[in-house]
Amino acid sequence: METRYLTSEDVRTAADLLRRGGLVGIPTETVYGLGANGLDPEAVKRIFEAKGRPQDNPLILHVPSADWLERYCRDVPPEAYALTDRFWPGPLTLILPRREMVPDVVTAGLDTVGMRCPDHPVTRAILEAAEVPVAAPSGNTSGRPSPTTAEHMREDMDGKIEAIVDGGPCRVGVESTIVDLTVSPPRLLRPGGVTLEELEEVLGEVAVDSAVRRLMRDGERPRAPGMKYRHYAPKAPVTVLTGDPEKGAAYLAEHAGPRDGIICFHEYCARLTGGERVVLDLGPAEDKGEQARRVFDALRSFDHTRVPAIWAQCPDAAGLGLAVANRLNKAAGFHIVELI
Ligand code: TXA
Ligand code: MG
Repeated sequence: METRYLTSEDVRTAADLLRRGGLVGIPTETVYGLGANGLDPEAVKRIFEAKGRPQDNPLILHVPSADWLERYCRDVPPEAYALTDRFWPGPLTLILPRREMVPDVVTAGLDTVGMRCPDHPVTRAILEAAEVPVAAPSGNTSGRPSPTTAEHMREDMDGKIEAIVDGGPCRVGVESTIVDLTVSPPRLLRPGGVTLEELEEVLGEVAVDSAVRRLMRDGERPRAPGMKYRHYAPKAPVTVLTGDPEKGAAYLAEHAGPRDGIICFHEYCARLTGGERVVLDLGPAEDKGEQARRVFDALRSFDHTRVPAIWAQCPDAAGLGLAVANRLNKAAGFHIVELI
């Protein structure tokens, strides 16, 4: 199949392709998504094929506004609207009880569905023109880092899908925060662009699913099925360094091999460069927004190199740090060296 490359001018074309059962790479503020008409089971099945995604991993539905929630969800609690008022459009996905009309292939047979209203002008225009909810996982091949540019989408999906819309680099860079509103207290299933602290301001107590901070044990099932898979992983093994960044840099200077890959805070790049090392800048140690924007591109770039091992400095868990750390830890299979 020849993939078409569309621009922000081609909203109508993208919407028509979606309506007719096509797969379209769409830009969002978090990461690029691989979209299909969420009411068309045949189109949705093709998402799983294009990504090589396990069938038991449900998709989220993208809608142009909170007014669409009742169409696909029942028993929508007031907390849902408190959250959409504050954070939609934006990087927050709500898990709610689904209505029968949502195809089983979208929810992987669960009786809940994830709902999200993305904050990207092009994709919102596409959603409005398509007049259908768009099922969209991140647009990477399953297991690879999520795409944050149209070029990343091309790397993974060229020739497999009808079109990719270039909406520029993603502003947030890590996927949406997922909060399950079908349990009490509400539960954070995946940290993302909306922070845990911000959720707590609206909801009060929020439980944090154990899959966010550690590896699932054999037989254990996270509430977001996708959190159990090895994820975001470059081909070389990754080790994460947490704790004091100065000590982390000193540890790397001593332990990283002459051909290893290093993702480090901006402050330490010069100090750690040397030999044939590939050193990538994650952004300033105090700028977690920049780290979120860069983390997937950094993990992805190592697949164009032959580094035998990768080391990554990791921020603390406050604010966006929880999401950045979760992505790095998952890429590392939670192989962590703590320096305190
Ligand atoms: O920012 C995002 O959320 C991006 C953009 C494209 O919108 N999408 C995205 O989708 O990250 P995906 O499929 O890569 O990740 C969705 C996660 C998966 O871990 C999946 O298991 C979980 O959400 N999920 C989906 N529906 C669920 C449900 N009903 N209950 C629990 N977890 C669910
Ligand atoms: Mg994904």
